[in-house]
Amino acid sequence: MGKTILTGDRPTGRLHIGHYVGSLRQRVALQNSGEYDKIYIMIADAQALTDNFDNPDKVRQNIIEVALDYVSAGLDPAKSTLFIQSQISELTELTFYYMNLVTVSRLQRNPTVKSEIQLRNFEASIPVGFFTYPISQAADITFCKANVVPVGEDQLPMLEQTKEIVHKFNAVYAPDNPVLVEPKALVPEAEACKRLPGTDGKAKMSKSLGNCIYLADSADEVRTKIMSMYTDPLHLQVSDPGHLEGNTVFTYLDAFARDEHFERYCPDYANLDEMKAHYTKGGLGDVKVKKLLNNIVQEELEPIRKRRAEYEKDIPEIYNILRKGSDAAREVAAQTLSEVKRAMKIDYFEDMELIRAQSEKYKGSSSC
Ligand code: TRP
Repeated sequence: MGKTILTGDRPTGRLHIGHYVGSLRQRVALQNSGEYDKIYIMIADAQALTDNFDNPDKVRQNIIEVALDYVSAGLDPAKSTLFIQSQISELTELTFYYMNLVTVSRLQRNPTVKSEIQLRNFEASIPVGFFTYPISQAADITFCKANVVPVGEDQLPMLEQTKEIVHKFNAVYAPDNPVLVEPKALVPEAEACKRLPGTDGKAKMSKSLGNCIYLADSADEVRTKIMSMYTDPLHLQVSDPGHLEGNTVFTYLDAFARDEHFERYCPDYANLDEMKAHYTKGGLGDVKVKKLLNNIVQEELEPIRKRRAEYEKDIPEIYNILRKGSDAAREVAAQTLSEVKRAMKIDYFEDMELIRAQSEKYKGSSSC
């Protein structure tokens, strides 16, 4: 069986460097590795609407932002199928059938959904659509029979849910000839990449906290944000010993720095470990560390920024890419849906044998 990747993002804002080190950078590497037969990258607008149903304009505006971030980061429409979730109505149909395979209590146990419910003050009354989005995510992953899903750590509960649905579907409807494929999550190895904190040191980058560095930020914006980043509040003088734990600048360096960067921008140290040792001993100021981080992040973002400027000149072409990608995804989804319906015995008009057998059954049974 071929190797297929599917992943995606909710279009609720521009993508930031947390998305980049958490998933986007890896997707581009996987795409360029040549090891995968098909790569699907989805803009999950229908999922975004599950908690933004009253703000359709926000979702609509951010489709193009996310698409621009994708192609600027190096996702190549010639190699990866970029598409919009809501344009594949087969996904909704799959979701409806998968709902029979999941219990309410199972959904209630999903830790990511739990914390999102708290965050959105949904405790008293949860919209059904939001509550069931993990099931729709299983449809996203299975329509193309993806076996690899590169995601951040917070998505692992969705992958678990998907695996359970696949397992149950195959056991109930297709025990001899499995229809759906169990996916595997691919999470970045480095701890710092799994959940990059905000520039203020808070646990997560979030637009509402204003602590994000966006892929689309200008060089000046990036520099300003990095130079005012949260470090070690106890490191008041250069000579003081510094702490690495919870020190955002070092967490970012963990996510971005490679040995070659030191040669280029900070030859006093051979690598990050040497710099950390100096910092914890005392005698290394925050400004020097921040300047290094700025150089490294700028180097990484510059080509992305340049590509974005090019793509921004032809926005209709971006929509064209998404339309073509959606057409291609729909074709694959229709194929899987027809296999699903056959397995579920709801393919009445395609099954000539059914019609023949039924007519046999009623032959000669008319009593008059
Ligand atoms: N839940 C993901 C997020 O919040 C977006 C998403 C929707 C997704 N469907 C998916 C990710 C399928 C991976 C696979 O970013």
